[in-house]
Amino acid sequence: MSRRPWVVGVSGASGTPYARAVLAGLLDAGETIDLVVSRAARLTLRDETGISFRDAHWRDDLASWLGRAQLGDVTYWPAGDLAAGPASGSYPTRGMVVVPASTASLAGIALGLSKDLLQRAADVTLKERRTLVVVPREAPYPRSALVHMLELHDAGAVVLPASPGFYGGAGKDVQQLVDFVAGKVLDALGVNHDLFTRWAGEPRR
Ligand SMILES: Cc1cc2nc3c(=O)[nH]c(=O)nc-3n(C[C@H](O)[C@H](O)[C@H](O)COP(=O)(O)O)c2cc1C
Repeated sequence: MSRRPWVVGVSGASGTPYARAVLAGLLDAGETIDLVVSRAARLTLRDETGISFRDAHWRDDLASWLGRAQLGDVTYWPAGDLAAGPASGSYPTRGMVVVPASTASLAGIALGLSKDLLQRAADVTLKERRTLVVVPREAPYPRSALVHMLELHDAGAVVLPASPGFYGGAGKDVQQLVDFVAGKVLDALGVNHDLFTRWAGEPRR
């Protein structure tokens, strides 16, 4: 069977730790990844981690970001490469997650602008009726972002805001909150993980 990766698009909203946790979770589950990092995401990544993400050294930079020497099956496509594999519906993928999703990327995807590879790959994911998960982060949300989220929902995407839950003791440290959101993303993709403890209630026996 041909390789069927998850496309992971990292856009320029604050929240690169969410992207890191999703990437690590996919690799831990043995999934294959096609990675796209927007131009603006390089700024947030540098601000939030100190790492400069360079096209020519993406493997080294990704390894430092994820803190692991063995990356597994990851393919990297520059965001300006509109002739890349994920720009075509005939390129096989499982689907795509945009994490974090900026309001600009939300708009571009909702309106079908395809201004860069991230937006085009998301558009392709929708048109091919594959799973698309977007993880918006902004506060407060402008009206336009709310409208774009509704449009994406109606187009079949899962709109999964970066809003961690604190229940079940998940709010003890920042990484737990990050993992909560990343775990919800992996749930939406149908990928196994143990990033959080599932609520079980208190069944009466
Ligand atoms: C440090 C930093 C933090 C940002 N945080 C956010 C954010 O949380 N949400 C958002 O929608 N945009 C945020 N932006 C603005 C986006 O980066 C900007 O709209 C950019 O055009 C997004 O482009 P992209 O969607 O192609 O990545 C931030 C920008 C910088 C430099």
